[in-house]
Amino acid sequence: MSAIIEFKNIVKSYGVNENRTFALRGASFTVDKGEFVVILGPSGSGKSTILNLIGGMGRADCGEIVVGEKNIANYGDKELSEYRADNIGFVFQFYNLIPTLTVRENVALVKEVSKNYAGADRVLGEVGLSAHKNKFPSQLSGGEQQRAAIARALVKNPPLLLCDEPTGALDSGTGIVILSLLQNMSGEGRTVIVVTHNSALADAADKVIRVKDGRIESVSANEKPLTVEEVNW
Ligand SMILES: Nc1ncnc2c1ncn2[C@@H]1O[C@H](COP(=O)(O)OP(=O)(O)O)[C@@H](O)[C@H]1O
Ligand SMILES: [Mg+2]
Repeated sequence: MSAIIEFKNIVKSYGVNENRTFALRGASFTVDKGEFVVILGPSGSGKSTILNLIGGMGRADCGEIVVGEKNIANYGDKELSEYRADNIGFVFQFYNLIPTLTVRENVALVKEVSKNYAGADRVLGEVGLSAHKNKFPSQLSGGEQQRAAIARALVKNPPLLLCDEPTGALDSGTGIVILSLLQNMSGEGRTVIVVTHNSALADAADKVIRVKDGRIESVSANEKPLTVEEVNW
């Protein structure tokens, strides 16, 4: 398999002088194309920082982030903006849907900035939301809102789907359905990276990256990952 992401010796700090805190203290790992990757670690260990840097949101202090063949750590603002538009789908813990737009309108919103726009109706069908597309977010359950957010991320047809604690606000049963959906989205042309607190998900990952105090504690590959449904939650 070929690496689609090479995260090399990344240092990232926030703030200046006495307020400077190091979120990443030299973190390295690789991700292969099509993998379902799970990032585990305690709160404050640097998980979101890793995802944000891969997603082209913010810059590292030093190190290289090679995505495909390109070192995005050297990108200027315009290049990063294009990179995000063409390559990245992002899913957040609290969905971040626009409350005054319908589900379909939320998903269709990115049409303007998408080179590979997949069509809102098609993607809403894939996440099982066809019957709810004319509703507003407040009329949906948490799990349905997260499906809508996943549809919005997928409608750009991004090669990288980055999910930061996507089940953090859901009950465990609904969370499992969402994680199953995300696992099924990985493979072939799409790489999915999920940050979670739930270490049981490790059994379903192709690769597990454990983060601690801004460093990579371990990277392990699963020869035979379970399906999310098979995991002993
Ligand atoms: N925008 C920011 N400004 C200042 N400190 C930050 C910022 N984002 C993250 N941090 C700090 O960096 C460290 C790692 O944060 P984060 O990557 O969000 O960890 P995690 O997602 O694992 O909880 C924490 O100490 C956090 O307080
Ligand atoms: Mg976080």
